[in-house]
Amino acid sequence: IANRFETEIGAAPDLAALDDVRVAALGKKGEISMMMRGLGKMSPDEKKVMGPALNGLKNTVAAMVETRKAALENAALDAALASETMDMSLPVGRKTGTLHPVQQVMEEMAVIFSDMGFSVAEGPDIEDDFHNFTALNFPPGHPARDMHDTFFMVPDAEGIQKVLRTHTSPVQIRTMMSQKPPIRIIAPGRTYRCDSDQTHTPMFHQVEGLVIGEDIHMGHLKGCLMDFISAFFENDVETRFRPHHFPFTEPSAEMDVRYERDGASIKIGSGDEWMEILGCGMVHPNVLKSCGLDPEIYQGFAFGMGVDRLAMLKYGMPDLRDMFAGDPRWLSHYGFGP
Ligand code: PHE
Repeated sequence: IANRFETEIGAAPDLAALDDVRVAALGKKGEISMMMRGLGKMSPDEKKVMGPALNGLKNTVAAMVETRKAALENAALDAALASETMDMSLPVGRKTGTLHPVQQVMEEMAVIFSDMGFSVAEGPDIEDDFHNFTALNFPPGHPARDMHDTFFMVPDAEGIQKVLRTHTSPVQIRTMMSQKPPIRIIAPGRTYRCDSDQTHTPMFHQVEGLVIGEDIHMGHLKGCLMDFISAFFENDVETRFRPHHFPFTEPSAEMDVRYERDGASIKIGSGDEWMEILGCGMVHPNVLKSCGLDPEIYQGFAFGMGVDRLAMLKYGMPDLRDMFAGDPRWLSHYGFGP
């Protein structure tokens, strides 16, 4: 019987014919199904022999049908590929856009960090004082608030004054208040400070990083940053790690990249200028406490990277302000845009 079905299955010219053979064998009233139904009337000895035999037959035929089905589907695809041709030499006739360098760099950063096991978190551009300052251990009236050149919103009807977030660090607070450790997130986004020169623009971009766990130390922070830097710049780059102060980390540090101004361009790997690209440190116990975490149990590190500066250094762009001037000639000069 198996041989007969094998011949019929092999001879089925298309999927519809194959299905007819399948129904004739394995359908409700198919030959094999009917034989299996006959098992009930057999003696126990006969059943012992016929049961496994019929089951084997059923499986063999079903497998043959599947194999033939795959072959017929492949043949149909080959036929379509052969008959439907596409002329790849035709001009596109329209220039397509590209990602902005800042967006490109943000996406590269997200890929590098997701390979290290980070997920992405977000927070609002318009923040309240609590998340942007207070929960980050900026005491009220503390001069560190002024250092942030904050843009203040007009107070609402209840007299509540929001700010344009001066950094992505408020996302640390939002994350620690909404999820339990272990935490390993990055928070990319726009940030705002009233400042403008070659390395500052009033709107800029940061990628925040936050890792909270039970045995996290400064070595993890430094290792994570060094791994990131070598993945991001691919070629030789010299960095330095300098002590600094932030109210929300202790100890705190900044990292600089060595670079050189060379006419209308800048270049990394040599020179005697340093550009600050990030702030970082071990999360301050007061910050953990304001998020309801016990500093005796949990520690962690955080960093905030300047995305636009990383793009400047990577592509040799000398002035940050050009990034947001919207000039297509500038974009195409660096190989972006139409
Ligand atoms: N938020 C800091 C800034 O924008 C950077 C930073 C982030 C520092 C996280 C330490 C930890 O200047």
